[in-house]
Amino acid sequence: MKINVIGVPLNLGCDRKGVEKAPNYLRERGLMSLIRSHGHKAFDLGNLYVPPVTEEEKYLKGSRLKYLDVIVEVNNNLAELVYDTLRGGAFPLVIGGDHSLGLGSASGVGKCYDDFGIIWLDAHGDINTGETSPSGNIHGMPLSALMGLGSEELVNVYSPGNKVLPQNVFLVGTRSLDEGECALIEEQHLSVYTMDTIRDKGIAFVAEDIKNKLRERKIRNVHFSIDVDSIDPSYAPGTGTRVPEGLIPSEFEEFVSHILSTNLIKSLDLVELNPELDSDDKTTNLCLSVIDYITSRL
Ligand code: ARG
Ligand code: MN
Ligand code: MN
Ligand code: MN
Repeated sequence: MKINVIGVPLNLGCDRKGVEKAPNYLRERGLMSLIRSHGHKAFDLGNLYVPPVTEEEKYLKGSRLKYLDVIVEVNNNLAELVYDTLRGGAFPLVIGGDHSLGLGSASGVGKCYDDFGIIWLDAHGDINTGETSPSGNIHGMPLSALMGLGSEELVNVYSPGNKVLPQNVFLVGTRSLDEGECALIEEQHLSVYTMDTIRDKGIAFVAEDIKNKLRERKIRNVHFSIDVDSIDPSYAPGTGTRVPEGLIPSEFEEFVSHILSTNLIKSLDLVELNPELDSDDKTTNLCLSVIDYITSRL
């Protein structure tokens, strides 16, 4: 398969330094040859340009959303790259950077397909809006915007394009939700597979349930967005918003393997690796093995 690797050295969505280093850090440790070792034709599209910003530019026009303009700009560019990649018959592998990039990458998918779904593997919901966000950090908001909810500026990224229907959104590994996010889950009847559910029913059950729902709804295209904080911090300490009691690597791999076996996954993000917060490159090495595992199944 043709795989386009797209680096997004963005840290403005989490308002914390370190995540922007991840794309090059992974490249220096053999990312491209790892992907090619599985017979793929892998192209490194390099890193998207992220303009430098000053602390004063954090809140513009009285907005609660931090660095809104730059994040919108980067996401528009990312959406275009993902769209072009898909149109060219290649698989976009987007390496973050913080999770605000999920907005651009899934918007690129939404321009290509009208019937798409999103699987969001994450300790968090990332469905805050400007109003509900406790932090103002946009990495906690991309998934609501992808459904057309929340701040206009985020909803309009790469518009016009298809929004994802709430019934085609699947949150997995969830264990930290803000009040407003819980309300939105109720309102929109989102499918949420929390860590409690996973502990209760097992990860294989969860994967099968999602597969069944995708089949029932005749969804042919799925964007898979992976936040490394879905994995338990004892295995993945190198990330900015750690939450205990996460997935262990074997569960993570089991889930990924079930989901990839559907052949519905058209694009993928791997986000929130922060090499500066890591210990002995534990999380970096885990990310490399995750990419190895994933690309061996594409
Ligand atoms: N819910 C919190 C917020 O909105 C944390 C979000 C963390 N998101 C992430 N992609 N790691 O600020
Ligand atoms: Mn996230
Ligand atoms: Mn997260
Ligand atoms: Mn391998």
